[in-house]
Amino acid sequence: MKFFVDTADVAEIRELAETGLLDGVTTNPSLIMKAGRPIADVIAEICSIVSGPVSAEVAATDLDGMLKEGRKLAAIAQNVAVKVPLTWDGLKACRKLADEGRMVNVTLCFSAPQALLAAKAGATFISPFIGRLDDIAFDGIELIEEIRAIYDNYSDLTTQILAASIRGPNHVKLAAMAGADVATVPPAVLKSLVKHPLTDRGLEAFVSDWKKSGQSII
Ligand code: E4P
Repeated sequence: MKFFVDTADVAEIRELAETGLLDGVTTNPSLIMKAGRPIADVIAEICSIVSGPVSAEVAATDLDGMLKEGRKLAAIAQNVAVKVPLTWDGLKACRKLADEGRMVNVTLCFSAPQALLAAKAGATFISPFIGRLDDIAFDGIELIEEIRAIYDNYSDLTTQILAASIRGPNHVKLAAMAGADVATVPPAVLKSLVKHPLTDRGLEAFVSDWKKSGQSII
């Protein structure tokens, strides 16, 4: 499973990239707004840190506007994935941009039929939003399972399932078990994946016993 980080905070991305575990980045208009810098500058800087796909979302909602913005965003760096919303115009833009050889991430997916349409439109990634479904008492992980089952029925559907709107480590685990290709995870959640109280306690005991042994490996 690939790990993307869901943020436009360049300092966080730099820190996480150092782990060697970061496969890409996703941003959205809300995250760009939080970053408080021009989108072109932020995306260019992220692309200079991470070589994997970096999603940059269009702001237009009409086909022509999405195509213009999508092409402009894609020109920032070769690893930009243009993010478009799951609407008819978004799907048309997806088809066009994919035919032009650009990576496309179709976002705001909340149903399996929507994911089927995105795959047929040539999306590189489909982004089902797990957390936002859970928030309204639907089962976000069940959606990942449904999309996985559908895509696996047809060898021509090569779109990668990018589990999005992840709220905690359990979402990451369940998305991986359900066969998501990628999880895009907020920095704090990504950092929390390593934590377990028994790991800390066990390490403390090993360090203390090693001191008592009086030995040195080097
Ligand atoms: C995905 O690409 C989105 O940016 C993101 O996962 C949305 O998550 P949220 O529901 O926490 O805003």
